Amino acid sequence: MISGKARVAGVIGWPASHSASPFLHNYWLEQYGIDGAYVPLAVAPENLDAALRGLAGLGLAGVNVTVPHKESALAAMDQIDSAAQRIGAVNTIVISETGALTGSNTDGFGFVENLRAGVTGWNAGEGPAVVIGAGGAARAVCAALIDEGVPGIRIANRTRARADALADALGNPLNVVGWDERDSALDGAALVVNTTTLGMTGAPPLDLALDALPATAVVNDIVYAPLETPLLGAARARGNPAVDGLGMLLHQARPGFKAWFGHDPEVTGALRDHVLADLERRAGGRG
Ligand code: ATR
Repeated sequence: MISGKARVAGVIGWPASHSASPFLHNYWLEQYGIDGAYVPLAVAPENLDAALRGLAGLGLAGVNVTVPHKESALAAMDQIDSAAQRIGAVNTIVISETGALTGSNTDGFGFVENLRAGVTGWNAGEGPAVVIGAGGAARAVCAALIDEGVPGIRIANRTRARADALADALGNPLNVVGWDERDSALDGAALVVNTTTLGMTGAPPLDLALDALPATAVVNDIVYAPLETPLLGAARARGNPAVDGLGMLLHQARPGFKAWFGHDPEVTGALRDHVLADLERRAGGRG
């Protein structure tokens, strides 16, 4: 039930139709009986500034920002949290009563919460991490791991210059390893994260030989379509704990929902099934 007093939030993207967020937030609104709505807002790149400036005037509680606006939205913020600053991209905007826009980035939070939920007692301090990929998602993952106290990150990317740029931006404890050295970089690692698009439906699998990886190391793929990527299948087959990418998508949505609608929502098995069914109807993606 949406009354005339409903709080309204949404997702700004171009297109907005690919986003799983309306499905997810409206599920929570219904679960908790909250008088609110979450709507897709299709905004073309040339209209982004006007759209962001209009949000406060319309009385919205806030919005998520998705492809291709995450970087360009930064400039229109009145305040930016430290995660968004380090990642150089905004995915959540909260609008204050006075109309000020605060931009944050919750991708790293979603990544860490997903690992915590997937592996009891997971702790970044346990050993070095290997991160495959150096795009925007890798940046969020590396920044979050550093905040969690990871002792070292070995980063491998097909285009080495992007990994070098990421290491320069985030500093210690990032070490760039060559793309052809990615297999041997797994030696002694406590965590491996695939942040590339490899393994996604329609893309080739990530070619990574796990032989050097300790049996206790956690393997995480931020791809969530399919849920069980070839990488996760190979990890499970040799007994490594494996965590899929769907939880990152679900957990990154929590801080926005809490700020807009006043309730920290729960990520449950029922929610996972519900979102999976929706993703299967449309072809999903990655965190
Ligand atoms: P996002 O910002 O969502 O992370 P992105 O910036 O497009 O997306 O990054 C995609 C990542 O997948 C990059 O690390 C990319 O490697 P390059 O920097 O070399 O492009 C990686 N990637 C995509 N296709 C790949 C492929 N066929 N082989 C290896 N890496 C690939």
